[in-house]
Amino acid sequence: MLIKKIRSRVLLIDDDSLAAEMIRHMLGDSADISLQYVSDARQALAAAAEFKPTVILVDLMMPLIDGFRLIRQFRAEAETEDIPVILLSSEDGPERKVQGFAEGANDYLVKWPNKLELAARVRYHSSAYLAHRERDDAFISLRESQAALLERTRQLEESQAALHHAQKMEAVGKLTGGVAHDFNNVLQIIGGNLQLLKYDTADNEAAQRRIAAASKGVARGARLAAQLLAFGRRQPLQPTVIHIGALLRSMDDMLRRAVGSSIDIELAVPPDAWNTLADASQLENVILNLAINARDAMHEKGRLRIEAANVTLDEQEATALGLDSREFVSLSVIDNGEGMPPDVAERAFEPFFTTKPNGQGTGLGLSMAYGFIKQTGGHIEIDSVPGSGTTIKALLPKACEPVHEPQPLADRPTAGGQERILIVEDEPDVRATTAELLASLGYQVLQAENAHAALTLLEKGEKVDLIFTDVVMPGPVHSVELARQAQVLIPGVQVLFTSGYTENGIVHQGRLDPGVSLLNKPYTEESLARKIRQLLCRDTDAKEGGGSAG
Ligand SMILES: Nc1ncnc2c1ncn2[C@@H]1O[C@H](COP(=O)(O)OP(=O)(O)OP(=O)(O)O)[C@@H](O)[C@H]1O
Ligand SMILES: [Mg+2]
Repeated sequence: MLIKKIRSRVLLIDDDSLAAEMIRHMLGDSADISLQYVSDARQALAAAAEFKPTVILVDLMMPLIDGFRLIRQFRAEAETEDIPVILLSSEDGPERKVQGFAEGANDYLVKWPNKLELAARVRYHSSAYLAHRERDDAFISLRESQAALLERTRQLEESQAALHHAQKMEAVGKLTGGVAHDFNNVLQIIGGNLQLLKYDTADNEAAQRRIAAASKGVARGARLAAQLLAFGRRQPLQPTVIHIGALLRSMDDMLRRAVGSSIDIELAVPPDAWNTLADASQLENVILNLAINARDAMHEKGRLRIEAANVTLDEQEATALGLDSREFVSLSVIDNGEGMPPDVAERAFEPFFTTKPNGQGTGLGLSMAYGFIKQTGGHIEIDSVPGSGTTIKALLPKACEPVHEPQPLADRPTAGGQERILIVEDEPDVRATTAELLASLGYQVLQAENAHAALTLLEKGEKVDLIFTDVVMPGPVHSVELARQAQVLIPGVQVLFTSGYTENGIVHQGRLDPGVSLLNKPYTEESLARKIRQLLCRDTDAKEGGGSAG
């Protein structure tokens, strides 16, 4: 082996200071060797820890601790166990040498060796020691980087799985959202005609019963479509500033009725809980759905706990969850029911995934919760242990504004009026039934098949009090642009949008633009009449200087 030129650090332990002089003399010429001398063997370990020798010379015969015992001590310490030790002895007997090697010595020299030989051995052991250390360090760093690589691969796999899940949910969401949109238009036609038929057959009791049954079907379909839209994050939301504590208290009765008297309900909201920005009625829906799931999982006996907390995520956590903000109010619905096995928890957010018997679950409760929370800018996750219970935790974005108490609208008449209303809708059947409905309420009705046609009418000088327009329609002019230009042509004109599906236009980042009025499809005659009356009364209120109109 070619010995590399390295610096050797020699620690000499010998009670005899003359010996130290000898060694110093022998190694003194070698610039690559530095020497440290300790006369008291009890200081040897501490000196080694400080000096960091590459080789240790140990005298065999010392009064307090002999060389063998000292070697044992070196070998017992992690820091010195590998440092080469050369025993120095005035005895040349083979038994001593054998014992020395057995105790862990690497070499044995009889006092006094030739100075060249001593330097050569010191260099040899030092370089072997350093080479071993280099190899060990490389091995450790290889092991560390392998572990880091494995960890990175695991993280990558995890985030790939999360991405895959999110993409799957996104794709299913797009599909269901699209179906729900068309479904809503169909329901609108059926529901509108049923309502007209109700007037036409007012004196036919059997017909009225059938119409009522059919209308129930339409309402059920509308609920289904609303859940699908919620899952597809296509539902126009009207977020307001909410205090979770107040919302839960207002739901208390409803929750107790929903879960039944055999289940204890515990609400825990800290007094300093932040406000959150969310659509209150949708959030109520989510809480109710989660409570019902909990009830089913507890087989009508157990404890349901709903708790809130302020949560601040660090940058990394927020990025990992794909969240834009870092401050949230968490809402956890906790039960001690049967829990979910991993394969159920994995699929629980998927639409139509249910483990409940036919007719008892549609598998849409958690899907709508998932879509709604995501659309609200939050996050929702399941933590479940089979046999112990489930926690569904949602993060809702913090709102810095105070809660705005809604001014209760005075009971507006839901009846009609004589104002002029322009209906803008591209679906001829939907347009026709809506026109008939409004006409039956007494309104004067104008119709246009798209925003461009509507604008042409207004530009010709047609005067209207309210424009009732679909949000998404084909044609060169967007409904939002129609509303803007109409307000220029007829200052103060009211605009009511309607949509079964809103991706853009009046909903931005899943939220309805402020000041915009929207009626979701499918709507009932009742809700259409009320909304239109509210807007027309608001118009009157404004003209009368904000006085309340009854
Ligand atoms: N708290 C819970 N404990 C145990 N399992 C649950 C819990 N919540 C949901 N699950 C499981 O997730 C499935 C999907 O729940 P989801 O609310 O989406 O649909 P559902 O309750 O089956 O039907 P729907 O809510 O439409 O009436 C449930 O069928 C059930 O297996
Ligand atoms: Mg459910």
